[in-house]
Amino acid sequence: MKKIIVANFKSNKTVEETVSWFQEFDNLITDTLDLELVIAPQVLALSVVKPSVKFSLAIQDLSSFPAGKYTGAVSVQNLKGLDIKYAILGHSERRKYFHETSHDVLLKVEQSISAGITPIICVDSSYLAEQLNLIASNLIEKCIIAYEPSQAIGSGANEDVGRVKEVVKKIHRLAGDIPVIYGGSVDEFNINEYLMVTDGVLVSTASLNVKQFVKVVQTVS
Ligand code: PGA
Repeated sequence: MKKIIVANFKSNKTVEETVSWFQEFDNLITDTLDLELVIAPQVLALSVVKPSVKFSLAIQDLSSFPAGKYTGAVSVQNLKGLDIKYAILGHSERRKYFHETSHDVLLKVEQSISAGITPIICVDSSYLAEQLNLIASNLIEKCIIAYEPSQAIGSGANEDVGRVKEVVKKIHRLAGDIPVIYGGSVDEFNINEYLMVTDGVLVSTASLNVKQFVKVVQTVS
């Protein structure tokens, strides 16, 4: 299986800046990559950028509900035709600032899978078991789990690789042999260590500057 690298722009960049990032990335990466590269720009940019042979697109969150009377929500039906392959769900920032619960994340997982979009479910150790146990096995087998210790996110304090290895084992015990990736201060200097014990990584800070992200990607390939 190809290693997965997910770039999460969070709520950074205007649509114009995002388009420039994609153009520059395309110019700088000239080789075919032996990676599943996934870019998650801010939601407004999804309709103007297109996935390419080099990468797939992800949305950073989804509505827990189908299309309907849910002001401000982005439902899976809204995304039709945009070729969105993945959805990052339950990121710790969603849980912290938007009070999202593991049950909300379950509803989002159901929506996502119903539309053929692969959920990337983010978990930290304290609610990992709670979150995974809520999701039925016929759904969880279609998911990717991202282990994201919150103290490692955007802090430069990346998690010990041995600890990541233990958590990957725990996730496999709870959810079966599904892909597990790591996120938290991943950059061009530490990415290969994490890829030795996981199926991929989720990168935010080191993806915002396109030249730095190219270094991250080229360090692997
Ligand atoms: P970071 O963010 O790469 O800036 O640490 C990771 C994440 O939030 O998933």
